[in-house]
Amino acid sequence: MSPSTGRNGVLLTTAFVFHVLSGALWTGATLYVVYATLPRAADGTLGREAFVDAAHRLLMVTRWTGVVLPVTGAYMIWRLYAPLEALATTRRGWAVLAMLSLWGVMNGVVELGVLRMRREVDPNVGWGRYMAEGFPVDRLAGGASVPGSARLASVARPYLLASSVLAVLLLVDAALLAGGVPG
Ligand code: HEM
Repeated sequence: MSPSTGRNGVLLTTAFVFHVLSGALWTGATLYVVYATLPRAADGTLGREAFVDAAHRLLMVTRWTGVVLPVTGAYMIWRLYAPLEALATTRRGWAVLAMLSLWGVMNGVVELGVLRMRREVDPNVGWGRYMAEGFPVDRLAGGASVPGSARLASVARPYLLASSVLAVLLLVDAALLAGGVPG
C-alpha cells in the first residue's frame, strides 16, 4: 500500500466514524425527545422549562450534526462514488441520494418546529435572531406571553412527529447501505 493510499484509507474510516456517530446522535435524540418528552409536556407532567430545554438541545444537536453529516457524507461520496453519475445509476447511489434528501427535509422540519415553539413566546422573533440563539430556556422569562407546556407541545407535535418518521426512514436507509445493497 502506498503512503498516500494509506492516508486516504484512514481519512475514509474517520469520515465513516464521525458520520455514523453524528447520525446515531441525531436520530436517537429526535426519537427520544418525541418518545420521552412530548407526551409528558402534552399532559402537563413535564414543565415548560424542561420541554423547551429538550427542544433547544435537539436543535443544537441538529445544527452540530448538520455540519458533520454533509461534510463527512460529501467526502464519502467523493471517495466511493466516482464517477459521480454512480449516484444516479446504482442502487447504492439512490440510497445515498435518499439519505441526502431525508437529511435536508428533517433539518428543515426540526428548525421550523422549534421556531414555531419560540414564536409562541416571542411572536416577532426573526430568522436571524432565531438562527443565532435557537430557543434557550431563559427566553421564556423575557417573552411577550408565557404559554403552558401543553400549548407548546401541541404547536411542536406535527413537526416532532414528522421528524421521528424521517429519522426512522434515515435509519432504514442507513441499514440498507450497511447491509450491503448491491450496486
Ligand atoms: C448530508 C447528508 C448525508 C450524506 C451526503 C450522506 C452520505 C453517505 C454516504 C456517501 C455513505 C456511504 C455509503 C456507502 O457505503 O456506499 C453514508 C453512509 C452512512 N450514513 Fe449517511 N449521509 C448523509 C446523512 C446521513 C444521516 C442524517 C444519517 C443518519 C442516520 C446517516 C447515516 C449513515 C450511516 C449509518 C452510514 C453507514 C452505512 C454503512 O454501514 O455503510 N447519513 N452516508
